Amino acid sequence: MNNIRKINGGGNLKGEIKVPGDKSISHRALIIGSIAQGETYIEGFLHSEDPLSTAECLRKLGVNIPKIRKDEPFTISGLGLYGLKEPREILNCGNSGTTMRLLMGLLAGQEGKNFILTGDHSLNERPMGRVGKPLSMMGGKIFGRESGNKAPISIDGNKLKGCVIGTPVASAQVKSAILLAGLKASGTTSVIEPASSRDHTERMLKAFGADISIRGEFGRNIVIKSGANLIGQKILIPGDISSAAFWMIAASIVPNSEVLIKNVGLNPTRTGILNVMDSMGCNYEILDKSTIAGEPIGSIMVKTAKNLRAFTIEGDVLPKLIDEIPILTVAACFCDGVSEIKDAQELRVKETDRLKVMARQLRKFGAEISEKEDGLIIKGQSNFNSAEVDSETDHRVSMSLAIASLLAKGTSKIMKAEASSVSYPTFWDDLAQLTN
Ligand code: S3P
Repeated sequence: MNNIRKINGGGNLKGEIKVPGDKSISHRALIIGSIAQGETYIEGFLHSEDPLSTAECLRKLGVNIPKIRKDEPFTISGLGLYGLKEPREILNCGNSGTTMRLLMGLLAGQEGKNFILTGDHSLNERPMGRVGKPLSMMGGKIFGRESGNKAPISIDGNKLKGCVIGTPVASAQVKSAILLAGLKASGTTSVIEPASSRDHTERMLKAFGADISIRGEFGRNIVIKSGANLIGQKILIPGDISSAAFWMIAASIVPNSEVLIKNVGLNPTRTGILNVMDSMGCNYEILDKSTIAGEPIGSIMVKTAKNLRAFTIEGDVLPKLIDEIPILTVAACFCDGVSEIKDAQELRVKETDRLKVMARQLRKFGAEISEKEDGLIIKGQSNFNSAEVDSETDHRVSMSLAIASLLAKGTSKIMKAEASSVSYPTFWDDLAQLTN
């Protein structure tokens, strides 16, 4: 498929918007609800390709999940920790790393059952050994291409034992897979991360009644005990800050803009973009702060700011803004001075190599970007000319390029624009509404 979108440069963004539900929390609501006892009510679910892949896989595992309709709450019936069925078909995770990695953790301890997981071209090239290896330490039997590192993955469900596992990368997907496996492993399982990654799994498992505790410096040691009796819950999913990020940056850099983004999840393990916006000197305010289902939320009012400052992103903040690097690269093009993104080698194993793809595509507008092994150096104060750019099938690249096009002189074309459906199917409608 190649859906081409044309975007006119100039104009501004004005109005109020409610971004779709959080992708990470949507996956987790389905997965944890599936192994709980009783019913889990889910409201605000992200009706996009990735979480719908998780729903389809769980249906094949015997979970009763109704047809999910956009903007309609629904209820699923959990099967308990031991109730998942051996599927008759291959589990297709589509483009979704979260689906594949979390399911690997969920299924590794389903004794006596076999599971095969596959994905699209991009997902089957992404590293799965980072999950397979720790699960093998727990007794998991996980196989795959390239010595178990790539999908298709086959899992022979096995008896697991609790372990202490230090993860070499700060990845919420790896951590979550180990914690889900820990629910069925004997004794206690402990994950130690090199830096804190998003903690939605910990929060949700706790809410469902798991015996989970957060220890150590900066909460990087997470300990879970096996055999919890998880009880179905009511989950209200806030808007995804990673989707809001496009409007937060667009309203900051496009002249004469003012956008109010309502009901955005503000979990502190996700708000690294706000730290960067502070150092850039962006003009924003957080309003209506509250908490829903154990997650902090608020509305974000963003107005254009002049003379934005160049910034450096490095170290422990990376996991807190990992999905925002593409749009922050666009932001850097319009700051005064040279910005630098370091310690971002994880971007090379996302849906695409996002460092390479963002540099390659933004250069077509005239951006001055150089690529390093672990990041990018971006010269600011760009004058963008219109260009024909390509998402290269990556949802966040597609949307970042759309925002970049607003700053270009003339009409730009975005190829494979449909990639945005992975996380934000209504992005183009929202863009039309705000730029009207
Ligand atoms: C996610 C974790 C992050 C993030 C991804 C969603 C999750 O990936 O990039 O979009 O839901 O746990 P990593 O765990 O690979 O950093």
